[in-house]
Amino acid sequence: MAAFHSMAAVFLYLGLGHLALASAQVCGMPSVSDRIVNGQDAVEGAWPWQVSLQVDNKHICGGSVITENWIVSAAHCYYGLNISQSRYTACVGEYQLTYGNPNAVCSTIQTLILHPSYTATGDPGDIMLMELSTPLNFTNYIMPICLPSPFVQVPSGTQCWTSGWGHINSSVPLSDPKTLQQVMVPIIDRSTCDAMYHIGSTVPASTQIILSDMICAGYQAGGKDSCQGDSGGPLVCKAGDSWFLAGVVSWGDGCAQAYRPGVYTLVTAYNSWIKTWVPDVTFQPYIISPIPSSNIKITMSAFSFFLPFLLLLCLNAF
Ligand code: ARG
Repeated sequence: MAAFHSMAAVFLYLGLGHLALASAQVCGMPSVSDRIVNGQDAVEGAWPWQVSLQVDNKHICGGSVITENWIVSAAHCYYGLNISQSRYTACVGEYQLTYGNPNAVCSTIQTLILHPSYTATGDPGDIMLMELSTPLNFTNYIMPICLPSPFVQVPSGTQCWTSGWGHINSSVPLSDPKTLQQVMVPIIDRSTCDAMYHIGSTVPASTQIILSDMICAGYQAGGKDSCQGDSGGPLVCKAGDSWFLAGVVSWGDGCAQAYRPGVYTLVTAYNSWIKTWVPDVTFQPYIISPIPSSNIKITMSAFSFFLPFLLLLCLNAF
């Protein structure tokens, strides 16, 4: 997680988080809600869905808990590495990787599902599901993240967060005690991000670099980003009271470089694929609108007016 400067932007979210109450599963609600503002170290328990995916007990990637049995990560955390599945463990409830943690549990992987589209960096389908051999008991430090319904769109500028134990800059590993890092990264819409990636690149303008199953987050000026070792980990956004998984850390050109924001696998592109393997997963409807504060009243009344229709829409969606 590279972080060099801070940027202030004010957006307000109008969340339909309360609609999530209709679902049986409680997700996306850490019991620790305060975080270090403008800092890098996360507070223990702030991101209870965060997974440390390890090979021979060494951290290699991130991941996110979605149910008692399943985690989601990136395909490239397994694909092409030639490491047998039996050497992988998924650790949850971790905070400082250098030390043992009484709240942490690690499980081997019973089933590993790679998305069939993925064969190389920049390909679509950089997503992987792992079924744990030992189901999780949820605690204050271990909780699932919510998954958004397929029609949920996160507007550009929305302040989302990514977390992980990855490098703090290109080829600079996180140092001991390896405290979980967090950084706020605003969403950048796909065409803007695609245009940024074409700057200083030999890829023809007509060839898309940022595909329809990708979502970008970060800064045009660089400075804050996810990085090597954060892969597979969460990009989460808040709607109402709960957090949902908008993206999976996938790739970038170096880390935190100008015009090279982080690229994340768009979770909503894979709802039906996830549902195939994890039938008990639920998807929550959210509406996230970045709105200028002067428009709040108007938007609020328009929102109340449309609420019954939205409710109908949501009910129909299930
Ligand atoms: N692919 C990298 C990994 O294996 C992380 C990619 C994220 N890079 C970025 N600039 N946001 O850990």
